[in-house]
Amino acid sequence: MLDQGGQRMPTRNTVLTSRAMRIGSAQRFRGRFSLPGDKSISHRLALFGALAEGATQIENFSAGADCASTLSCLRALGVAVQHEGTSVRIHGRGFSGLHAAPGPLDAGNSGSTLRMLAGVLAGRPFESVLTGDASLRQRPVERVAAPLRAMGATAIPTDGRPPLTIRGGTLRSIAWDLPVPSAQVKTAVLLAGLQATGTTTVNEPALSRDHTERLLPAFGVPVQRNGLAVCVTGPARLTPTTMTVPGDASSAAFLVVAALILPDSEVRIDGVLLNPTRTAFLDVLRRMNATIETGITASAPEPVGWIVARSSQLAGIEVPADLVPALIDEVPALAVAAACARGRTSFSGAAELRVKESDRISALAEGLGRMGVALEERPDGLAIDGGRPMRGASLNAHDDHRIAMALSVAALRAQSETQIAGAECASISFPQFYEYLQLATR
Ligand code: S3P
Repeated sequence: MLDQGGQRMPTRNTVLTSRAMRIGSAQRFRGRFSLPGDKSISHRLALFGALAEGATQIENFSAGADCASTLSCLRALGVAVQHEGTSVRIHGRGFSGLHAAPGPLDAGNSGSTLRMLAGVLAGRPFESVLTGDASLRQRPVERVAAPLRAMGATAIPTDGRPPLTIRGGTLRSIAWDLPVPSAQVKTAVLLAGLQATGTTTVNEPALSRDHTERLLPAFGVPVQRNGLAVCVTGPARLTPTTMTVPGDASSAAFLVVAALILPDSEVRIDGVLLNPTRTAFLDVLRRMNATIETGITASAPEPVGWIVARSSQLAGIEVPADLVPALIDEVPALAVAAACARGRTSFSGAAELRVKESDRISALAEGLGRMGVALEERPDGLAIDGGRPMRGASLNAHDDHRIAMALSVAALRAQSETQIAGAECASISFPQFYEYLQLATR
């Protein structure tokens, strides 16, 4: 139902005009959904498929604009990609099948595309310039450039940010200690490591999402994990595979929270990713007294299953800082749950949120604050005193898909209409989000 042309599309709860999405309060949130493919997994399958020798077939590929950016960068590097609906076929020709792009590689809004591709290009004997939209050009890339330089590539950011120029070449294996948990940087170093001779090790300060470790073996590449250390040995060759992407766990978080905070609500999500490095948000919600059930239907290479969430009287908690790396993308949804929970919920150890698609700490403080939520913005998190009525307000998505979706879910609980400028950016990860919202609140 997203109407990019600016026409009004009246529905019960959501109306998008050219200026803002208008969202009214909802009586309930009910439905059974399957979600578009997980964004993190879709990016990786596309990249690994491009590096494999032969055709990789991917089903339920993410419908979001971010993963389309990965495909368009791969095409610019000479990879043949067929994309029809949610099926993607990638005709990989190995690492040496990549060729210099005719111009800068545009990763759009996608930090994952830019950072993970940097690791691939570090071993390629040509110059590449990786760039993106205004938001991505504000985000840190020195964290990925530094290890790639240590491996022997030339990697030059612009004031620590994109555009990032890479001149790849012969790489040496390294052991690299990540200063902050980042699955994107971990993946970049491992992808460079596959092109070096010897064993490359990445030591993480805390476990970040482990899709690269789970998926590379499906492409015939062994990965060793020892505590927080991950190792690959190069030079490696990838063999093609066929895979269906589980539903996006981070998208699920918004539907789960909507069902928890509205009366008379129940949502069931089938075929969703239940990888423990992505489901800490469910653990936190359960600790907040949420009624959530899950079941696993498949376990390899990624755990997949179902989630059922029902209306709950939530209670505030202190979210343990050591859980934050496994729920970093879900803090916006959790902040909305916190706004509706009795008592105080605090998030700490989440300073990374300030360098995501927007400064998510300040965007949440601004948006929820305008809705009348009592909160305190902190350098590394938020304290939210929840449980008071929320009012509709005029809000801004700050060009950040997860802020748009979090504020939209909050709007369902507000006493009057909310307007969210720039809400269409939800399509970065979840183009059907407003359609699902409309279906569930009928
Ligand atoms: C991602 C890793 C996380 C996450 C991002 C996706 C990935 O970023 O926030 O949405 O797919 O590896 P960092 O690696 O910067 O923490």
